[in-house]
Amino acid sequence: MSTVRYAVFGHPVSHSLSPRIHAAFARQTGVSLAYTAIDAAPHEFVAALDRFVGEGGKGANVTLPLKEAAFAICTRTSERARRAGAVNSLTWNDGQWHGDNTDGIGLVRDLTGRNGLDLRGRRALMLGAGGAARGVAPALLDAGVSELIVVNRTPERADALIDAMGEPDRALSRYWQDLGDIGDFGLIVNATSAARGGGEDFDLPFTLTTPRTLAVDLNYGEAAIPFLAWAKAAGCRDAVDGLGMLVEQAAEAFEAWHGTRPDSDAVYAALRGKDALLVTAD
Ligand code: ATR
Repeated sequence: MSTVRYAVFGHPVSHSLSPRIHAAFARQTGVSLAYTAIDAAPHEFVAALDRFVGEGGKGANVTLPLKEAAFAICTRTSERARRAGAVNSLTWNDGQWHGDNTDGIGLVRDLTGRNGLDLRGRRALMLGAGGAARGVAPALLDAGVSELIVVNRTPERADALIDAMGEPDRALSRYWQDLGDIGDFGLIVNATSAARGGGEDFDLPFTLTTPRTLAVDLNYGEAAIPFLAWAKAAGCRDAVDGLGMLVEQAAEAFEAWHGTRPDSDAVYAALRGKDALLVTAD
């Protein structure tokens, strides 16, 4: 029997930890698979997926900047993918791509499960309105935040994200330049790519925080350092990077593909412990 193939598509993608995570899950659960990283620029994505299917591809994860493009090529999508307008997990079934978005549930599992934090009733601020922000915004609302304010450098994208949420009483957009006048938050999520590929400092007002604020960066490794350093300087109680979310969204996809739930804690601990780049702000 030919090997069943899985892959992560992105551009760039060589940095991706997904091949290591899925290989570790496969070893744990005795599943036999090949999982590789495939670099595809947006204009090559559809052709690359076709080739992948021709070579036995059964499922794929999708990372930036392809999550919206992945949504567009799916014949069927889950409700959470439709709310996000973005797909990070593709399954080939009956000759068609089925799309899901496991980013939001991955983040909430990491925060509430692994980190033991309660999101209910927190006033939440999201910085950024790209693919990552779209993936997690619906899950934050479902997890019971009291309000979700989205602020983005390009305000039209924040407006579009908010419109897609369809909860005008609870989900609102504001301008970046008004960050000093919008009160404080129990949860602040950095969903921007500002610090990727070379650390830009975060110059945000400390008035956004209280001593109980939870600060979360959806990035991990070096890209998470500037925002989490700001959060610590502002006196936030908890500062969490995106490594746990990455492992949890992978566990969700793995279970959907292979019907068995991996032990994500063991893989998380191995990644956190082994790699000097995977720092937290604690
Ligand atoms: P991802 O899939 O990681 O969300 P993306 O869709 O390209 O990637 O979105 C990147 C996000 O980071 C956007 O919200 C972007 O703001 P714009 O919509 O204005 O482009 C935000 N971003 C990138 N660089 C930034 C910077 N230097 N300052 C503030 N926001 C930035």
